[in-house]
Amino acid sequence: MPALKAKRVIHFVWNTGWYRGVMLRPFWGEAFFILSVPGEYYKKEGITMNKQEQLDGIRNSAMEELNGISSLKDLDAIRIKYLGKKGEVTAVLKTMGSLDPKERPLVGKKANEVRGEIQEAIDKKTTELKAKKQEEELKAEKIDVTLPGKEVELGHKHPLSIVLDEVKEIFLGMGFNIAEGPEVEWDYYNFEALNLPPDHPARDTQDTFYITEKMLLRTQTSPVQIRVMENQEPPIRIIAPGRVFRSDAVDATHSPLFHQIEGMVVDENVTMADLKGTLEIFAKKLYGEDTKIRLRPHHFPFTEPSCEIDISCFKCGGKGCPMCKGEGWIEILGGGMVHPKVLENGGIDPDKYSGFAFGIGLERIVMFRFGLDDMRLLYENDMRFLEQF
Ligand code: DAH
Repeated sequence: MPALKAKRVIHFVWNTGWYRGVMLRPFWGEAFFILSVPGEYYKKEGITMNKQEQLDGIRNSAMEELNGISSLKDLDAIRIKYLGKKGEVTAVLKTMGSLDPKERPLVGKKANEVRGEIQEAIDKKTTELKAKKQEEELKAEKIDVTLPGKEVELGHKHPLSIVLDEVKEIFLGMGFNIAEGPEVEWDYYNFEALNLPPDHPARDTQDTFYITEKMLLRTQTSPVQIRVMENQEPPIRIIAPGRVFRSDAVDATHSPLFHQIEGMVVDENVTMADLKGTLEIFAKKLYGEDTKIRLRPHHFPFTEPSCEIDISCFKCGGKGCPMCKGEGWIEILGGGMVHPKVLENGGIDPDKYSGFAFGIGLERIVMFRFGLDDMRLLYENDMRFLEQF
């Protein structure tokens, strides 16, 4: 009689994998013990196991691995290891062809079950780990609402814009429209059409930057007069603010880039009195009701007659002070009656219509308005200066 009697062969999973063992019962009693060998050993030895048992083993070790992980990255590794193209469950499925046809449906069903179970466990773990991660992130991002806030700095208008907006308001209130023209302009519009043919001596005072011989950076906003007349029938009432350029060196009163506001009215029976009345209202609105204006004869090629317009010094009221250099008057713009040739160049009949025009230097009126003695302050973007407005 043999000392040991094999009861039956069993497969079981324990700790890190599946095992194959034999349940043994000693001849002397009812107790039994198990003699077992790890499943890996069988694999290594090329001993095939029952497929269904193998699948159980795979499922069990997958579950165990899933229990032990704490990151989404590890989770993905498990998915690949078991369910991936080269994964363990897939490997079993690939061997289906070599199985006994009777066994096939059973193993197939089992394999699908195991795959479903592992997938379900992975999904559950994914949700769990994501929730955990989010909770950690939220904890890390906790906001302390009692901390002092960041101050939002509000910008404000540049002094040039402050005054320009006021000027626009004044003229819009008198029924003017706002017109615009290009900063890169044809020589024709900037000079020729304004009665400044090539070689006209007045061109010398307006040297500029040439793009080609016929194309330049405009030296004045006056070319907008021609562009508007070409496109509009009288009555015309426009102002045209904009950037202009001259090849001047920078100093306290010069800059190669500055701003002008052009004005023009063309209609029947427009006279110099209209120019004077319009500019008087403008000066009073901008510098105060007590402001007076005076017209001095001057010459511009595009107006006839032409004048320069002074306002009574708003600082001393006309008595004479450092602001007006003791004169009592401050020159703020040039103007006159639109030259008949200029009307003609704009396509307007000078026998039927007349007009006045003027050009204001924006920097100049801004400097007087705020008592600035250096134009460069307006372009340097020094916050200590700009914050004062
Ligand atoms: N364009 C002139 C300049 O830049 C200013 C000017 C003078 C404009 C008289 C006018 C005007 O429209 O009538 O010096």
